[in-house]
Amino acid sequence: MHHFEYRNGVLHAEGVPVPDIARDVGTPFYCYSTATLTRHYQVFSDAFSSMDALICYSVKANSNLAVLKTLARQGSGADIVSEGELQRALMAGMPADKIVFSGVGKTAGEMAYALDVGIHQFNVESEPELYLLSQVAQQKGMTAAVAPRINPDVDARTHKKITTGTQQNKFGLPWESAGAVCQMATDLPGIELVGLDVHIGSQLTDLEPYENAFSRVAELVRELREAGHTIDRVDLGGGLGIPYHPEDAEPPHPDQYAAMIERIIGPLNCEIILEPGRLIAGNAGIMVAEVIYVKTNGDRTFVILDGAMNDLIRPSFYDAYHQIWPVTEPAEDAVSLPIDFVGPVCESADTFAVQRMSPPYQAGDLVAFLSAGAYGAVMSSSYNSRPLIPEVLVDADRFAVTRRRPDFQEMLAGESIPDWL
Ligand code: LLP
Repeated sequence: MHHFEYRNGVLHAEGVPVPDIARDVGTPFYCYSTATLTRHYQVFSDAFSSMDALICYSVKANSNLAVLKTLARQGSGADIVSEGELQRALMAGMPADKIVFSGVGKTAGEMAYALDVGIHQFNVESEPELYLLSQVAQQKGMTAAVAPRINPDVDARTHKKITTGTQQNKFGLPWESAGAVCQMATDLPGIELVGLDVHIGSQLTDLEPYENAFSRVAELVRELREAGHTIDRVDLGGGLGIPYHPEDAEPPHPDQYAAMIERIIGPLNCEIILEPGRLIAGNAGIMVAEVIYVKTNGDRTFVILDGAMNDLIRPSFYDAYHQIWPVTEPAEDAVSLPIDFVGPVCESADTFAVQRMSPPYQAGDLVAFLSAGAYGAVMSSSYNSRPLIPEVLVDADRFAVTRRRPDFQEMLAGESIPDWL
């Protein structure tokens, strides 16, 4: 579900015609819909309303401050993986006691900062990390609330670059060592064991891998409690998928996901933490680009856009499919032809779609990449010295630039030439 649709033959973001934004900010740009973000958050949080659930939006999916503030206003907490994300979440008004810190490589400095601001919990992924956290907390005379992240060794059946819950991945602690690690957490100074954490991957379109993983977690919680440990919280991570392709089967609805969790985790009577990212932001954003040239090589037609792989890397990196819509609605009798949509970056991988059946385009036309709200802007770079593209937030019939395009002077501001040159 999203609020990008044609009205009178022109693509609108909620009540705003997309060409109006293009005229104002130039292309390419990202555009997010407030109504879509809030609706996704509400559907997800309503699904868990009968449970003691804390929703911690996964900031890595889209960390634009205006997006975070929109979600903070809905009551969202945050799942963060760096000091930078923590700063953003706090700046956007997400309360520290609703923030969980994930990630395999937290540094001592990041731990110290997170302790100072009083986050809800650290999801700890290794024994050395647990030792370091103990030292940092002890030096400060503080106690860190810890949930070891357990690797349940289940296959999430998603893209190999975004699966995390098997023993071939760097994530989490081996299942077998859970008891020993919880004991270590109990014994170490400066650490309070509060729960367990699990996250098996992203863009899951099937509940079964979740059910397997969560059943293992429930079993483990029971064993740990029997061994005398206090396990009051279970963090179940994120990963619920969204539809990208118009012919994809609908992924499970948050209500189905929540019902399964209530059945499996509910009887443990603990706080449930959820870390949705893509589900909230994915379909709440589009990337808009302009056609620079249309060229043919033999029998191939290339539409060359001013947006590139550095702006939206998912197609190059994961072979991800994004729907591509012309901003001006094609005539009903327009004949589709196979088109390769590419950017100007000097790499063959700078390709958004190959032989995609599309209506014809000409220079100056605008195109919109759907489902680009999650892992779009956050994964962009300035490769080929292309400036990071602006981000715009729409709310009903108004819009605002929430990150502007830097000029070249700003881009180069941090660089200097050594005096021996
Ligand atoms: N929690 C943890 C510990 C995670 O590692 C992730 C995502 C999430 C929550 C949120 O997962 P989500 O609900 O968004 O699926 N760049 C890739 C996705 C990488 C996901 C990384 N971790 C992509 O564009 O598909």
